[in-house]
Amino acid sequence: MNDKFESIKQEILDGIDGLASSRAVYDFKKQFLDSKTGKIGQLMKEMKNIAPEERAGFGKGVNELKEWAQQKFSELDEKIREKELKLRYELERIDVTMPAEGRETGNLHPITQMRNEIIDVFSGMGFEVFENREIENDYYNFTALNTPKDHPARDMQDTFYLSPEFLLATQTSAAQIHTMEEKKPPIKILCPGKVFRSDDDATHSPMFHQMEGLVVDKKITLCDLKGMLDVFVKKIYGESTTTRLRPSYFPFTEPSVEVDVSCFECGGKGCKLCKGTGWIEILGAGIVNRKVLENCGIDPDEYSGLAFGIGIERATMLKYGINNIKLLFESDLRVLEQIDDN
Ligand code: DAH
Repeated sequence: MNDKFESIKQEILDGIDGLASSRAVYDFKKQFLDSKTGKIGQLMKEMKNIAPEERAGFGKGVNELKEWAQQKFSELDEKIREKELKLRYELERIDVTMPAEGRETGNLHPITQMRNEIIDVFSGMGFEVFENREIENDYYNFTALNTPKDHPARDMQDTFYLSPEFLLATQTSAAQIHTMEEKKPPIKILCPGKVFRSDDDATHSPMFHQMEGLVVDKKITLCDLKGMLDVFVKKIYGESTTTRLRPSYFPFTEPSVEVDVSCFECGGKGCKLCKGTGWIEILGAGIVNRKVLENCGIDPDEYSGLAFGIGIERATMLKYGINNIKLLFESDLRVLEQIDDN
């Protein structure tokens, strides 16, 4: 019997030298120590063939062999696991002194940034925001805004007609009508939107963005308009920026004004940006025409309103000194990356 114990011992000693992983140790160990199929376990089953007087010795021998094997395997297992762990540390080592891999981050498009900035300023003054529609009908885009059938703004050269009745919105001013039809005064709204005109050069694009503002309440005057626009230009172009109003004409406002800002580049002395005048035209505005209020069922003797329309591209180009509107639409990252105010 001792021979059998010895040969199992030898088999284990021969086998463990070649084991290189904890998995291999586990598999090899099973061949001997598995309680059902292991070679040492099997020895126990031979007990019944052993002469009774030798059984005690045999049992002791098997147990010793078993303990010896368990000891061997656990020493081996510990060694191999330690080796494996070291190897893993080696493989997964991180050199914290290496420069970090740069990660590109995106930023909002300059038009979106300007749109958000404008919304921020006016929501601070209590304006609600409504998105404008891109397809309008003739009534909202023109007729209700006191722009009669023969008005030049309706010219095929300016307007993209989809049918005799429907067109691509040429101005966010149509939102004034939708709002006044749905809401009664007091009204204080801001409508950003895309507008479309058959126009294409360095400062015009067939699609561009506007932001319409409308306030309707009792006793609204040009002073309210100027006050709000002053706050707006100071927030966007700097605290020292001021505004001036020049008489102008829009069918839906009376009086109508063109609003200039003092040149934030030269401080008003005269430079290339303001073409030597010290002033830059920034937006159109006015007091809502009585006829427009009437068209929306609002009594012009009781209420008055102010309105303004900001060209978002123009406001952006002025702020960042961009001289060609196409730079805002070409998605050239070298341009877009330079403008990140958020
Ligand atoms: N809708 C005008 C345009 O597209 C801009 C404008 C002017 C809007 C005066 C207004 C306004 O609300 O009062 O040129």
